[in-house]
Amino acid sequence: MMTGNFPMDILAKRETPFYYYDRQVLEDTLWEVNIQSARWSKAQVHYAVKACAAPEVLQMIADAGLGADCVSGGEIKAAIEAGIAADKIVFAGVAKADWEIEYALEQGIFCFNVESQAEVEVIDQLAEHMHTKAHICLRINPNIDAHTHAKITTGMKENKFGIQLCDLEEAVEDVVKNRPNIVLEGLHFHIGSQITDMKVFEALCKCINEVVVRAERIVPMHHINVGGGLGILYEHPNHFPIPDLAGYFATYKEHLVMRENQCVHFELGRAIVAQCGSLITRVLYVKHGVEKQFAIVDAGMTDLIRPALYGAFHRVENISNPNADEQTYDIVGPICESSDVFVEGYKCATVKRGDILAIRSAGAYGEVMASQYNLRRLPGHLMG
Ligand code: LLP
Repeated sequence: MMTGNFPMDILAKRETPFYYYDRQVLEDTLWEVNIQSARWSKAQVHYAVKACAAPEVLQMIADAGLGADCVSGGEIKAAIEAGIAADKIVFAGVAKADWEIEYALEQGIFCFNVESQAEVEVIDQLAEHMHTKAHICLRINPNIDAHTHAKITTGMKENKFGIQLCDLEEAVEDVVKNRPNIVLEGLHFHIGSQITDMKVFEALCKCINEVVVRAERIVPMHHINVGGGLGILYEHPNHFPIPDLAGYFATYKEHLVMRENQCVHFELGRAIVAQCGSLITRVLYVKHGVEKQFAIVDAGMTDLIRPALYGAFHRVENISNPNADEQTYDIVGPICESSDVFVEGYKCATVKRGDILAIRSAGAYGEVMASQYNLRRLPGHLMG
């Protein structure tokens, strides 16, 4: 069975479970992001910190010149500590607390992605108290179906994100006329995550083009932020370690209409970090049921919740013994929940107690979503 590249001598010495981030894969991905986004003279990629906030990962992202897309005061702090310049940080989220807005203003971030007129009013007041100006983009809900998992789609009109298309003019006019402490920089969009069909991004471009024309009847929009959402191939971390960044940026280049001095912004999370990360775990027991056999490992849904929460697939590799004959297993964790299953009926190289398994493509929304349920230790990580 083909596996990723793992330094077994180092991994085997460490207590499991933990996340392993492959520096080379991340470096190659960041290189590709920079090459492919250079199609525009004015473009900025903001890495979505929510996908993975391990300091070593953030530092490499800072070194590659990316900005950050943050959804909390904590993420802004982590991004700045990693060396990402405040003027490359955008701050999104449906419910920013007052302290978070104040902190972002103090740090001098580039822009707030604002989700409602009520939020515009609060930011305006807080900026006035601080004798400063807040720069914002209005987040518009484009009502586009991202054809992805229901729990990770955000751009349909029934969900809580953004300002409705029908309220666009009212929202823009309100900022321009009534909010003296706010500078309206442009518009923001995001329709969902794990999108692999470029037609979805094409549809978003068409919508954005129309919305920008409407908004610019009132005031110029200097910045267009198209959000993130590019998916990865969970089935093939070895064959496609780098996602289709070429196709993604080419789609925007072809379909998004930009005026000469406009700047386009992207907020990619998963596509940048998913394939560089694996959850490393040890087999504790192999248990034979009547018709099935279970490989019971020391990592559980507390370490990687995506399979339990979204029914997400992650490839599992026996990296101690990759060439053993294959058998079929349910690979499960130790948590007292029946949903604590990584994968069912899965064919992989025969496992025995003590073998080390790599649960692949876990760099995004893995470690950051870990919990201490059952009073377990957090997994921690190693960058190799
Ligand atoms: N921008 C905004 C406004 C977002 O809400 C998100 C993700 C992103 C950018 C980055 O999206 P990405 O490029 O990573 O698709 N926990 C889920 C994913 C939740 C995504 C939330 N928003 C999962 O494990 O699949």
